[in-house]
Amino acid sequence: MSSVELSVFIRAIGVHTPERTLTNAELSKMVDTSDEWIKTRSGIAERRIAGPGENPSDMGAKAAAKAIARAGLTPADVDLLIVATMTPDVPFPSTACFLQAKLGLRRDIPCFDVSAACSGFVYALQVAKDMMRSGSYRRALVVGAEKLSSVVDWSDRTTCVLFGDGAGAALLETTTEPNVGLLGNLLGADGNNAELLHCAAGGSAAPATADSLRDGKHFLRMNGKEVFRHAVRVMAESCERVLAKCDVKSEQVAWFIPHQANIRILEAVASQLNVGMDRFPSNLERYGNTSAASIPLALEEAWQAGKIKHGDLILIVAFGAGLTWGATLLRWHEPTR
Ligand SMILES: CC(C)(COP(=O)(O)OP(=O)(O)OC[C@H]1O[C@@H](n2cnc3c(N)ncnc32)[C@H](O)[C@@H]1OP(=O)(O)O)[C@@H](O)C(=O)NCCC(=O)NCCS
Repeated sequence: MSSVELSVFIRAIGVHTPERTLTNAELSKMVDTSDEWIKTRSGIAERRIAGPGENPSDMGAKAAAKAIARAGLTPADVDLLIVATMTPDVPFPSTACFLQAKLGLRRDIPCFDVSAACSGFVYALQVAKDMMRSGSYRRALVVGAEKLSSVVDWSDRTTCVLFGDGAGAALLETTTEPNVGLLGNLLGADGNNAELLHCAAGGSAAPATADSLRDGKHFLRMNGKEVFRHAVRVMAESCERVLAKCDVKSEQVAWFIPHQANIRILEAVASQLNVGMDRFPSNLERYGNTSAASIPLALEEAWQAGKIKHGDLILIVAFGAGLTWGATLLRWHEPTR
């Protein structure tokens, strides 16, 4: 156990997206929709679709391997693995256990999933941080990996145009340097609104049956308008509350990295915070909503583009089924070696 106060920072990130791209033009041959409708209502032009046998643990393992390599480490250096997913490979065992085996992580480390839908990555970051600050774990992998294409009803135009597949991983490390890495955080949930975005069957309450399959109850269903309304309010409030908690003004934040749900949600949140869209990077156009993978995908892209600099304050914020939400303020840290 450590007696000094430890900070936890993101040492490296890695992502993986499937090869196959599904465009709006292709979708408009499958359901009654159009490129114009999808783009203007959501900002999405295309999304990636995982192939058969390309599961969240496969995509997550590839993303995680990149993060480990970028950090100049090996799988043996990882002390903890948390996978955030709403589309696990199977109901059990956890996707984290499959990923551990695929990556060749050590066997003396905890590996488990966090289920918080699109807020999963933000939830998992906080769980990892709290475990690491005890001093028991020096390095952790937090992976968001999703295969939404497996739970989407491809005949339901109100949902199938919005989602995509992919994975992103963050390699976290502890340091004794103060005021760096994950600074402040807020997590919340409202199970009274679970039905706004859910999957009705396939779990123990309603196991898959011929009837449930016929009625499409194993598919994701959503009240889009209500989800939209909650998402804007809760994401804006979460940002404001975390900033207040950390005594930071929104002008001091270099980048807001929001869960990529819908460009109109991001615009409304930015406007409520009085922040320009130039500080709200988005990759919705190319990936759609990839749930727990969307924040690491957006973060990696901003980092790859050279936008994120040592010392930058970054506010990540998410909202998803549950309902769940979360926000984390972090100071980007690139240790000198
Ligand atoms: C789903 C969403 C894009 C719909 O946008 P909207 O502006 O609210 O659209 P509406 O639901 O009012 O639908 C308007 C019309 O378009 C139709 N429509 C819905 N999907 C369509 C599609 N893919 N193509 C063409 N028309 C479509 C509707 O049937 C409706 O037709 P009607 O007026 O004849 O009934 C929007 O509500 C949304 O993004 N919600 C949040 C979803 C989300 O981000 N979920 C994940 C959160 S983590």
